[in-house]
Amino acid sequence: MLILGIESSCDETAAAVVADGKRILSNVVASQVLTHEKYGGVVPELASREHLRKIDLVVDEALARAQIRLEAVDALAVTEGPGLIGSLLVGLVYGKALALSLDKPLVGVNHLEGHIHAVLLENHRACAAGMTVEKAKLPAVTLVVSGGHTSLFRVDAEDRNGRTAFSYKPLGRTRDDAAGEAFDKVAKLLALGYPGGPIIDQLSNFGDPAAVDFGRIKMKGNPFDFSFSGLKTAVLYRVRGTDLAAEAEARRAWRKTVSGRVTANELRAHCSPVTLDLVASFQHAVVADLVMRTMAAAENAGVATILVSGGVACNSLLRTRFAEVARNHAMDVFFPSLELSTDNAAMIAAAGYYKLLAGERAGISLTAHASFPLES
Ligand code: KG4
Ligand code: ZN
Repeated sequence: MLILGIESSCDETAAAVVADGKRILSNVVASQVLTHEKYGGVVPELASREHLRKIDLVVDEALARAQIRLEAVDALAVTEGPGLIGSLLVGLVYGKALALSLDKPLVGVNHLEGHIHAVLLENHRACAAGMTVEKAKLPAVTLVVSGGHTSLFRVDAEDRNGRTAFSYKPLGRTRDDAAGEAFDKVAKLLALGYPGGPIIDQLSNFGDPAAVDFGRIKMKGNPFDFSFSGLKTAVLYRVRGTDLAAEAEARRAWRKTVSGRVTANELRAHCSPVTLDLVASFQHAVVADLVMRTMAAAENAGVATILVSGGVACNSLLRTRFAEVARNHAMDVFFPSLELSTDNAAMIAAAGYYKLLAGERAGISLTAHASFPLES
Protein backbone atom coordinates (compact mmCIF):
# COMPACT_ATOMS: atom_id res chain seq x y z
CA MET A 1 0.00 0.00 0.00
CA LEU A 2 1.49 3.33 -1.09
CA ILE A 3 0.63 6.10 1.35
CA LEU A 4 1.16 9.79 0.74
CA GLY A 5 1.81 11.45 4.10
CA ILE A 6 1.39 15.19 4.64
CA GLU A 7 2.63 17.09 7.70
CA SER A 8 2.32 20.83 8.38
CA SER A 9 1.70 21.15 12.12
CA CYS A 10 4.43 23.68 12.87
CA ASP A 11 7.16 25.18 10.70
CA GLU A 12 8.06 22.35 8.30
CA THR A 13 6.05 21.67 5.17
CA ALA A 14 6.50 17.95 4.56
CA ALA A 15 5.29 15.20 2.25
CA ALA A 16 6.45 11.61 1.90
CA VAL A 17 5.57 8.38 0.16
CA VAL A 18 5.88 5.25 2.30
CA ALA A 19 5.18 1.68 1.14
CA ASP A 20 3.35 -0.63 3.57
CA GLY A 21 4.14 1.62 6.52
CA LYS A 22 7.77 0.47 6.41
CA ARG A 23 9.68 1.46 3.28
CA ILE A 24 10.35 5.16 2.64
CA LEU A 25 10.21 5.94 -1.08
CA SER A 26 10.57 9.69 -0.54
CA ASN A 27 10.66 12.09 2.38
CA VAL A 28 10.63 15.80 1.51
CA VAL A 29 10.82 18.53 4.15
CA ALA A 30 10.80 22.25 3.36
CA SER A 31 12.11 24.05 6.42
CA GLN A 32 10.98 27.57 7.34
CA VAL A 33 13.97 28.28 9.58
CA LEU A 34 15.07 31.26 7.49
CA THR A 35 11.63 32.85 7.84
CA HIS A 36 11.46 32.53 11.63
CA GLU A 37 15.08 32.85 12.73
CA LYS A 38 15.08 36.63 13.00
CA TYR A 39 12.18 36.37 15.51
CA GLY A 40 13.90 33.63 17.57
CA GLY A 41 10.78 31.45 17.36
CA VAL A 42 7.96 30.36 15.05
CA VAL A 43 5.56 33.17 14.05
CA PRO A 44 2.25 31.32 13.47
CA GLU A 45 0.83 33.62 10.78
CA LEU A 46 4.06 33.53 8.76
CA ALA A 47 4.18 29.75 9.14
CA SER A 48 0.70 29.28 7.61
CA ARG A 49 1.55 31.53 4.68
CA GLU A 50 4.78 29.63 4.02
CA HIS A 51 2.91 26.31 4.10
CA LEU A 52 0.45 27.67 1.54
CA ARG A 53 3.30 28.72 -0.73
CA LYS A 54 5.14 25.41 -0.48
CA ILE A 55 2.62 22.60 -0.07
CA ASP A 56 2.06 22.03 -3.79
CA LEU A 57 5.77 21.95 -4.59
CA VAL A 58 6.59 19.69 -1.67
CA VAL A 59 3.91 17.12 -2.57
CA ASP A 60 5.02 17.16 -6.22
CA GLU A 61 8.62 16.67 -5.15
CA ALA A 62 7.67 13.74 -2.88
CA LEU A 63 5.88 12.02 -5.78
CA ALA A 64 8.74 12.74 -8.19
CA ARG A 65 11.37 11.35 -5.82
CA ALA A 66 9.23 8.25 -5.21
CA GLN A 67 8.93 7.98 -9.00
CA ILE A 68 5.18 7.56 -8.90
CA ARG A 69 2.23 9.45 -10.30
CA LEU A 70 -0.41 10.86 -7.99
CA GLU A 71 -2.92 8.26 -9.22
CA ALA A 72 -0.64 5.46 -7.96
CA VAL A 73 -1.13 6.58 -4.34
CA ASP A 74 -3.41 4.11 -2.50
CA ALA A 75 -4.28 6.31 0.48
CA LEU A 76 -3.42 9.58 2.21
CA ALA A 77 -2.48 10.35 5.82
CA VAL A 78 -2.48 13.90 7.16
CA THR A 79 -1.57 15.39 10.51
CA GLU A 80 -4.76 16.28 12.34
CA GLY A 81 -3.19 17.86 15.49
CA PRO A 82 -1.80 18.98 17.84
CA GLY A 83 -0.06 22.03 16.41
CA LEU A 84 -0.58 25.56 15.13
CA ILE A 85 -4.13 25.69 13.85
CA GLY A 86 -3.41 27.77 10.73
CA SER A 87 -0.45 25.56 9.82
CA LEU A 88 -2.35 22.32 10.41
CA LEU A 89 -5.27 23.48 8.28
CA VAL A 90 -3.09 23.97 5.20
CA GLY A 91 -1.87 20.34 5.08
CA LEU A 92 -5.17 18.92 6.26
CA VAL A 93 -7.36 20.73 3.73
CA TYR A 94 -4.84 19.98 0.97
CA GLY A 95 -4.85 16.27 1.84
CA LYS A 96 -8.62 16.18 2.12
CA ALA A 97 -9.05 17.82 -1.28
CA LEU A 98 -6.58 15.41 -2.89
CA ALA A 99 -8.28 12.38 -1.34
CA LEU A 100 -11.69 13.59 -2.51
CA SER A 101 -10.56 14.34 -6.04
CA LEU A 102 -8.72 11.01 -6.35
CA ASP A 103 -11.46 9.10 -4.51
CA LYS A 104 -8.82 7.53 -2.23
CA PRO A 105 -9.07 6.77 1.50
CA LEU A 106 -7.79 9.34 3.97
CA VAL A 107 -6.86 9.14 7.66
CA GLY A 108 -6.02 11.83 10.19
CA VAL A 109 -2.93 11.16 12.33
CA ASN A 110 -1.95 12.55 15.71
CA HIS A 111 1.44 14.27 15.35
CA LEU A 112 2.75 12.58 18.52
CA GLU A 113 1.73 9.17 17.20
CA GLY A 114 3.72 10.09 14.09
CA HIS A 115 6.84 10.82 16.18
CA ILE A 116 6.48 7.44 17.91
CA HIS A 117 6.21 5.68 14.54
CA ALA A 118 9.35 7.49 13.36
CA VAL A 119 11.33 5.28 15.75
CA LEU A 120 9.62 2.09 14.56
CA LEU A 121 10.06 3.12 10.93
CA GLU A 122 13.77 3.65 11.52
CA ASN A 123 13.97 0.28 13.23
CA HIS A 124 12.35 -1.43 10.21
CA ARG A 125 14.74 0.39 7.91
CA ALA A 126 17.80 -0.64 9.92
CA CYS A 127 16.65 -4.27 10.27
CA ALA A 128 15.77 -4.49 6.55
CA ALA A 129 19.18 -3.06 5.63
CA GLY A 130 20.76 -5.93 7.58
CA MET A 131 22.32 -3.61 10.14
CA THR A 132 23.23 -5.14 13.48
CA VAL A 133 20.24 -3.64 15.23
CA GLU A 134 17.78 -5.42 17.46
CA LYS A 135 14.12 -5.36 16.58
CA ALA A 136 12.30 -2.93 18.87
CA LYS A 137 10.06 -5.04 21.09
CA LEU A 138 6.85 -3.59 22.46
CA PRO A 139 5.52 -2.72 25.02
CA ALA A 140 7.74 0.33 25.39
CA VAL A 141 7.88 3.65 27.13
CA THR A 142 8.32 6.45 24.67
CA LEU A 143 9.58 9.99 25.17
CA VAL A 144 8.43 12.49 22.55
CA VAL A 145 10.58 15.56 23.04
CA SER A 146 10.53 18.53 20.69
CA GLY A 147 9.92 22.27 20.48
CA GLY A 148 6.23 21.78 21.18
CA HIS A 149 6.07 18.61 23.27
CA THR A 150 7.70 16.72 26.12
CA SER A 151 5.53 13.71 26.84
CA LEU A 152 5.87 10.14 28.03
CA PHE A 153 3.58 7.35 26.83
CA ARG A 154 3.36 3.64 27.26
CA VAL A 155 3.00 2.02 23.81
CA ASP A 156 1.52 -1.43 23.34
CA ALA A 157 1.02 -3.46 20.19
CA GLU A 158 -1.37 -6.35 19.84
CA ASP A 159 -2.28 -8.65 17.04
CA ARG A 160 -5.91 -8.20 15.94
CA ASN A 161 -6.87 -10.65 13.19
CA GLY A 162 -3.34 -10.69 11.84
CA ARG A 163 -2.98 -6.89 12.00
CA THR A 164 -0.89 -4.93 14.46
CA ALA A 165 -2.95 -2.50 16.52
CA PHE A 166 -1.11 0.09 18.62
CA SER A 167 -2.37 1.70 21.80
CA TYR A 168 -0.98 4.64 23.76
CA LYS A 169 -1.32 5.54 27.41
CA PRO A 170 -0.11 8.98 28.56
CA LEU A 171 2.22 8.73 31.57
CA GLY A 172 3.38 12.33 31.92
CA ARG A 173 3.97 15.59 30.12
CA THR A 174 5.48 19.01 30.59
CA ARG A 175 3.49 21.39 32.75
CA ASP A 176 5.07 24.45 31.12
CA ASP A 177 7.79 24.72 28.45
CA ALA A 178 8.72 21.84 26.17
CA ALA A 179 12.42 20.87 26.38
CA GLY A 180 13.11 22.15 22.84
CA GLU A 181 11.35 25.40 23.68
CA ALA A 182 13.70 25.81 26.68
CA PHE A 183 16.71 25.26 24.39
CA ASP A 184 15.33 27.84 21.95
CA LYS A 185 14.57 30.42 24.69
CA VAL A 186 18.01 30.09 26.32
CA ALA A 187 19.65 30.46 22.91
CA LYS A 188 17.56 33.57 22.24
CA LEU A 189 18.45 35.06 25.62
CA LEU A 190 22.15 34.52 24.90
CA ALA A 191 21.85 35.66 21.24
CA LEU A 192 23.13 32.33 19.95
CA GLY A 193 20.67 31.97 17.06
CA TYR A 194 17.66 29.86 16.13
CA PRO A 195 16.75 27.06 16.53
CA GLY A 196 18.65 26.90 19.81
CA GLY A 197 18.86 23.12 20.29
CA PRO A 198 21.43 22.25 17.61
CA ILE A 199 23.53 25.34 18.46
CA ILE A 200 23.62 24.63 22.20
CA ASP A 201 24.36 20.99 21.41
CA GLN A 202 27.46 21.98 19.43
CA LEU A 203 28.65 24.78 21.75
CA SER A 204 28.31 22.52 24.80
CA ASN A 205 31.28 20.50 23.54
CA PHE A 206 33.44 23.48 24.51
CA GLY A 207 31.99 24.10 27.99
CA ASP A 208 32.07 22.34 31.34
CA PRO A 209 28.70 20.68 32.08
CA ALA A 210 29.54 20.64 35.81
CA ALA A 211 30.39 24.37 35.98
CA VAL A 212 26.89 25.41 37.10
CA ASP A 213 24.92 23.12 39.36
CA PHE A 214 21.26 23.78 38.56
CA GLY A 215 20.17 21.04 40.94
CA ARG A 216 17.51 18.48 40.15
CA ILE A 217 14.15 19.64 38.85
CA LYS A 218 11.60 18.93 41.58
CA MET A 219 8.05 17.92 40.69
CA LYS A 220 5.12 17.59 43.03
CA GLY A 221 2.52 14.99 42.10
CA ASN A 222 3.16 12.87 39.02
CA PRO A 223 6.93 12.07 38.94
CA PHE A 224 6.69 11.52 35.16
CA ASP A 225 5.67 15.12 34.45
CA PHE A 226 8.30 17.64 33.37
CA SER A 227 8.92 21.34 33.99
CA PHE A 228 11.62 23.36 32.26
CA SER A 229 10.52 26.94 32.83
CA GLY A 230 12.31 27.13 36.20
CA LEU A 231 15.58 26.07 34.59
CA LYS A 232 15.16 28.68 31.86
CA THR A 233 14.52 31.33 34.55
CA ALA A 234 17.60 30.15 36.48
CA VAL A 235 19.67 30.80 33.33
CA LEU A 236 18.05 34.22 32.97
CA TYR A 237 19.02 35.16 36.56
CA ARG A 238 22.62 34.18 35.87
CA VAL A 239 22.70 36.42 32.80
CA ARG A 240 20.58 39.48 33.64
CA GLY A 241 22.61 42.48 34.75
CA THR A 242 25.95 40.63 34.46
CA ASP A 243 28.84 40.64 31.99
CA LEU A 244 27.08 37.76 30.23
CA ALA A 245 24.22 40.09 29.24
CA ALA A 246 26.66 42.61 27.77
CA GLU A 247 28.41 39.78 25.95
CA ALA A 248 25.06 38.57 24.54
CA GLU A 249 24.29 42.11 23.32
CA ALA A 250 27.69 42.27 21.59
CA ARG A 251 26.95 38.92 19.97
CA ARG A 252 23.53 40.14 18.82
CA ALA A 253 25.16 43.19 17.20
CA TRP A 254 27.85 41.01 15.56
CA ARG A 255 25.26 38.58 14.18
CA LYS A 256 23.42 41.46 12.52
CA THR A 257 26.58 42.25 10.54
CA VAL A 258 26.92 38.69 9.23
CA SER A 259 24.78 37.61 6.31
CA GLY A 260 23.60 33.99 6.19
CA ARG A 261 24.18 31.34 8.81
CA VAL A 262 27.18 31.30 11.12
CA THR A 263 29.12 28.15 11.92
CA ALA A 264 29.48 26.79 15.45
CA ASN A 265 33.18 27.69 15.36
CA GLU A 266 32.49 31.31 14.38
CA LEU A 267 29.92 31.53 17.15
CA ARG A 268 32.25 29.92 19.66
CA ALA A 269 34.83 32.60 18.92
CA HIS A 270 32.24 35.13 20.13
CA CYS A 271 31.44 33.26 23.36
CA SER A 272 33.38 33.57 26.62
CA PRO A 273 34.28 30.40 28.57
CA VAL A 274 31.64 31.41 31.16
CA THR A 275 28.91 31.44 28.48
CA LEU A 276 30.09 28.08 27.12
CA ASP A 277 30.05 26.63 30.65
CA LEU A 278 26.55 27.98 31.21
CA VAL A 279 25.09 26.43 28.04
CA ALA A 280 26.85 23.11 28.66
CA SER A 281 25.49 23.04 32.23
CA PHE A 282 21.99 23.94 31.03
CA GLN A 283 22.06 21.15 28.44
CA HIS A 284 23.35 18.72 31.05
CA ALA A 285 20.48 19.60 33.41
CA VAL A 286 17.81 19.16 30.70
CA VAL A 287 19.26 15.86 29.51
CA ALA A 288 19.68 14.48 33.05
CA ASP A 289 16.04 15.23 33.80
CA LEU A 290 14.72 13.73 30.54
CA VAL A 291 16.74 10.54 31.02
CA MET A 292 15.95 10.19 34.72
CA ARG A 293 12.15 10.54 34.34
CA THR A 294 11.98 8.32 31.26
CA MET A 295 13.97 5.57 32.96
CA ALA A 296 11.81 5.83 36.07
CA ALA A 297 8.65 5.61 33.92
CA ALA A 298 10.02 2.54 32.10
CA GLU A 299 10.89 0.83 35.39
CA ASN A 300 7.51 1.70 36.83
CA ALA A 301 5.74 0.32 33.75
CA GLY A 302 7.91 -2.81 33.84
CA VAL A 303 9.02 -2.48 30.21
CA ALA A 304 12.50 -3.08 28.79
CA THR A 305 12.22 -0.92 25.65
CA ILE A 306 12.51 2.86 25.39
CA LEU A 307 11.73 4.86 22.25
CA VAL A 308 12.91 8.48 21.99
CA SER A 309 11.71 10.81 19.25
CA GLY A 310 11.14 14.48 18.30
CA GLY A 311 13.58 17.27 17.44
CA VAL A 312 15.41 17.15 20.80
CA ALA A 313 16.11 13.45 20.12
CA CYS A 314 18.84 14.81 17.78
CA ASN A 315 20.75 15.97 20.86
CA SER A 316 24.09 14.18 21.03
CA LEU A 317 24.36 14.19 24.84
CA LEU A 318 20.79 12.85 25.14
CA ARG A 319 21.65 9.97 22.82
CA THR A 320 24.86 9.13 24.67
CA ARG A 321 23.32 9.34 28.14
CA PHE A 322 20.29 7.25 27.19
CA ALA A 323 22.52 4.58 25.67
CA GLU A 324 24.70 4.44 28.81
CA VAL A 325 21.88 4.43 31.32
CA ALA A 326 19.73 1.95 29.37
CA ARG A 327 22.70 -0.43 29.11
CA ASN A 328 23.18 -0.25 32.90
CA HIS A 329 19.50 -1.09 33.39
CA ALA A 330 19.52 -3.90 30.79
CA MET A 331 17.03 -1.97 28.64
CA ASP A 332 17.06 -1.24 24.92
CA VAL A 333 16.78 2.34 23.70
CA PHE A 334 15.91 3.30 20.12
CA PHE A 335 16.17 6.64 18.33
CA PRO A 336 15.19 7.59 14.77
CA SER A 337 17.86 8.92 12.40
CA LEU A 338 18.30 12.70 12.69
CA GLU A 339 16.18 13.14 9.56
CA LEU A 340 13.27 11.21 11.08
CA SER A 341 13.65 12.75 14.57
CA THR A 342 12.52 16.21 13.50
CA ASP A 343 9.14 16.85 11.88
CA ASN A 344 8.58 14.87 8.68
CA ALA A 345 5.73 13.25 6.78
CA ALA A 346 7.18 9.72 6.51
CA MET A 347 6.27 9.21 10.17
CA ILE A 348 2.70 10.39 9.46
CA ALA A 349 2.37 7.96 6.53
CA ALA A 350 3.77 5.12 8.69
CA ALA A 351 1.36 5.80 11.56
CA GLY A 352 -1.51 6.22 9.07
CA TYR A 353 -0.81 2.81 7.54
CA TYR A 354 -1.86 0.94 10.69
CA LYS A 355 -5.01 3.05 11.01
CA LEU A 356 -5.94 2.32 7.41
CA LEU A 357 -5.34 -1.40 7.95
CA ALA A 358 -7.66 -1.25 10.94
CA GLY A 359 -10.32 0.15 8.64
CA GLU A 360 -10.19 3.73 9.88
CA ARG A 361 -11.35 6.34 7.36
CA ALA A 362 -11.68 10.10 7.76
CA GLY A 363 -14.74 11.71 6.28
CA ILE A 364 -15.29 15.17 4.88
CA SER A 365 -15.75 16.47 8.44
CA LEU A 366 -12.07 15.81 9.33
CA THR A 367 -10.70 18.99 10.84
CA ALA A 368 -7.57 20.28 12.61
CA HIS A 369 -7.15 20.43 16.39
CA ALA A 370 -4.59 22.73 18.03
CA SER A 371 -4.84 20.59 21.15
CA PHE A 372 -5.24 16.88 20.49
CA PRO A 373 -4.40 14.43 23.30
CA LEU A 374 -3.03 11.04 22.27
CA GLU A 375 -4.76 8.21 24.06
CA SER A 376 -6.24 5.07 22.60
O1 KG4 B 1 10.23 17.88 16.26
P1 KG4 B 1 10.63 19.26 15.83
O2 KG4 B 1 11.25 19.39 14.47
O3 KG4 B 1 9.39 20.23 15.83
C1 KG4 B 1 8.44 20.28 16.82
O4 KG4 B 1 7.47 19.47 16.77
O5 KG4 B 1 8.66 21.10 17.76
O6 KG4 B 1 11.59 19.85 16.97
C2 KG4 B 1 12.19 21.11 16.91
C3 KG4 B 1 12.89 21.36 18.25
C4 KG4 B 1 13.46 22.77 18.40
O7 KG4 B 1 13.07 23.29 19.66
C5 KG4 B 1 14.96 22.54 18.35
O8 KG4 B 1 15.70 23.50 19.09
C6 KG4 B 1 15.08 21.16 18.94
O9 KG4 B 1 13.98 20.45 18.42
N1 KG4 B 1 16.34 20.50 18.53
C7 KG4 B 1 17.31 20.17 19.40
C8 KG4 B 1 18.37 19.61 18.63
N2 KG4 B 1 17.99 19.62 17.31
C9 KG4 B 1 16.73 20.16 17.27
N3 KG4 B 1 17.38 20.29 20.74
C10 KG4 B 1 18.52 19.87 21.34
N4 KG4 B 1 19.58 19.37 20.66
C11 KG4 B 1 19.55 19.22 19.33
N5 KG4 B 1 20.60 18.71 18.67
ZN1 ZN C 1 7.08 17.38 16.08
